[in-house]
Amino acid sequence: MAQQPPAMAVTFKVNGKAQALMLDTRTTLLDALRDHIGLMGTKKGCDHGQCGACTVLVNGTRINSCLSLAVMHEGDAVTTIEGLGTPEQLHPMQAAFVKHDGFQCGYCTPGQICSAVAVLEEIRAGIPSHVQGDVGTAPEMSLPEMRERMSGNICRCGAYSNIAEAMAEVAGVRIAETHGAQSDAGAEA
Ligand code: FES
Ligand code: FES
Repeated sequence: MAQQPPAMAVTFKVNGKAQALMLDTRTTLLDALRDHIGLMGTKKGCDHGQCGACTVLVNGTRINSCLSLAVMHEGDAVTTIEGLGTPEQLHPMQAAFVKHDGFQCGYCTPGQICSAVAVLEEIRAGIPSHVQGDVGTAPEMSLPEMRERMSGNICRCGAYSNIAEAMAEVAGVRIAETHGAQSDAGAEA
């Protein structure tokens, strides 16, 4: 008889709700969320860390859930797109995506929104980026910073400029700057 793959118990919170699972140790966090917990908002695009569709927040930090094993998340707090807001009370970033048409087919959108929420926090926390002129100073809340930090989230529909506008509104960056920087927004991703 074929040997069963090793399984392990893991307990973590997803959108504030405790989850206790017994999982094949090879199960990714993405598959645990979708196939074991039934949260289908987090999307599987490439399943190997190239598209960002599977982005979720773990203890407030964004990760590609397809690249992380679920059993590594004992005790963690995971937030998916379902946990950011509700249809009646959208998260400000969700509302801004709707207002600025930051999507077309919507497949990449849960990952884009989770990433966008985390990006603003990363800039506020002073985490440096590749486009920062001087890593000894705090990064600016600017469109180049936002676009650089969103470059791991791919959108096949090319909604990049509208995503940038949505993020700018939530961040309080002037829309006039947004229009001036739109034309090459998609080329960077
Ligand atoms: S599905 Fe995870 S990065 Fe593409
Ligand atoms: S909205 Fe279709 S892939 Fe981004």
